[in-house]
Amino acid sequence: MYDFAVSASSKAELYHDLHAALDALTADEPDMIANMANAAALIWQYLPDLNWSGFYRLVDGELVLGPFQGKPACIRIAIGAGVCGAAAKTRETQLVEDVHAFPGHIACDAASRSELVVPIVHEGALIGVLDLDSPSPARFDAEDAAGCEALIRLLAPRIAG
Ligand code: SME
Repeated sequence: MYDFAVSASSKAELYHDLHAALDALTADEPDMIANMANAAALIWQYLPDLNWSGFYRLVDGELVLGPFQGKPACIRIAIGAGVCGAAAKTRETQLVEDVHAFPGHIACDAASRSELVVPIVHEGALIGVLDLDSPSPARFDAEDAAGCEALIRLLAPRIAG
């Protein structure tokens, strides 16, 4: 059983503690699926106000659904399509305050109102994206983006095939 001490008193502390917990969970585990699964579950457990948390992996030139928490989701996303595809194409974090205003947004869960997608790059190669959805408009801010980018920097070498 894992029991992490994750403080929610400020976003800075929350992401600091999440980083430490993710490090502890994945440091000694070489299996990429296990590490993505635990990362998705950890984020789901400790980041408030999410309705989806998970991964899409780059497989044969398209994004394919990976380990996640939330409702069943679209399985394949073309590079450039939707928020995930935009993050994959640009290799830049996509912070979307209102998904209804994002051209081409792919609605996997009609409840989603805002979204944060972080590209995962390892040794110069895109390997996938982390996708977080929220039922609240403008749920994510620059601190969430920076916090999740730090989580992904830690995780990338541990989920690279
Ligand atoms: N909304 C995403 C699709 C993935 S689901 O949200 C899990 C997009 O527009 O790429």
